[in-house]
Amino acid sequence: MRVPVLDLQAEYEKLSDEVDAALKRVCENSWFKLGPEVERLERDWAVYCEAAHCLAVNSGTSALHLALEALGVGEGDEVITTPMSFFATAEAILYTGARPVFVDIDPKSFCMDPALVEDAVTERTRALMPVHLFGHPAHIDPLLDIAARHDLFVIEDAAQAHGALYKGRKVGALGDVGAFSFYVTKNLGAYGEGGAVVTNDVGLHERMALLRNHGQSGAYAHQCVGYNYRMTGFQGAVLNVKLPHLDSWNGRRRRIAAAYADGLAETPLILPAEADYARSAWHLYVVRSERRDELKAHLAQNDVSAAVHYPVPIPDMEAIRGCGARSGALPEAHRMAAEALTLPIFPQMSDEQVSYVIETIKDFFTG
Ligand SMILES: Cc1ncc(COP(=O)(O)O)c(C=O)c1O
Repeated sequence: MRVPVLDLQAEYEKLSDEVDAALKRVCENSWFKLGPEVERLERDWAVYCEAAHCLAVNSGTSALHLALEALGVGEGDEVITTPMSFFATAEAILYTGARPVFVDIDPKSFCMDPALVEDAVTERTRALMPVHLFGHPAHIDPLLDIAARHDLFVIEDAAQAHGALYKGRKVGALGDVGAFSFYVTKNLGAYGEGGAVVTNDVGLHERMALLRNHGQSGAYAHQCVGYNYRMTGFQGAVLNVKLPHLDSWNGRRRRIAAAYADGLAETPLILPAEADYARSAWHLYVVRSERRDELKAHLAQNDVSAAVHYPVPIPDMEAIRGCGARSGALPEAHRMAAEALTLPIFPQMSDEQVSYVIETIKDFFTG
């Protein structure tokens, strides 16, 4: 049996009538740039995230950058973040001229460890940027407390956590602003690139709106130097078709995670678990093993696609040399880079595929 990392064709088969009609609507009305489909997505995504405002943009990276710029983060500033994320988290900080400062992760949630954050605060620190990694919410309340004590902004990188709950509340607008990615593989993915920012702060929303569209307040009225971060009408249309399915897709991911937890409980793997404050969106199901590379090869031999998120902590990457800083050693991040293995988890995955992955892993350990 073949088990891919995800199956976008199966998803499209179910939605093709609606998607095709939505794309046709965009063509017939020439709604190519922003437009009614994107505006509808902004309204619905704000409601979904329990946020007052949403702006759709052309990627999650742009969303992070827009948030930082609109908050005035720039040259000479520091932003405290996690070493374990996709590179874009740090990249967006570097775009502004600020310096990412990395603190170690909590080995249970894989997210930034709030207990280490206060020691990393200096007079240059302007913001905290936690990542809700693999769909599991970062522990936000202690971060909000630290931010309040030191007058810092909190920017949530929610690129992997559509629909995740922190103490019963949706992630995204728990801090000052949250950034989402609608990259194709995400829990809510566009047919191409996309992203969004959500916030409860109307002033911040207005600054981000200006920056998203070349700093224009009206046609050719440029108030500041901005960017072209507009979402295309096609992506808005596709996302509007997909959004009503997000909760049921997340529910299926949750059931697969539960089946893995049950089926793999007796193996030597360290399995992911939700913290008591968290309801994960289960974007990725990441286990740990000292025999990670052998297990990955065994799964590949048996046609199961497994991946490594992430093999190198961000501060160890060539691009970061000289422009990032570590706060203390990062032993948990390094351990995770050596041991983490991502098993397939996607809404269209069948029960048979889930059982097959479990049995293949059990075979590995029982020899
Ligand atoms: C945690 C995290 N932050 C930021 C991004 C950047 O999003 P995008 O690929 O849409 O630019 C990603 C996506 O890949 C991500 O996983």
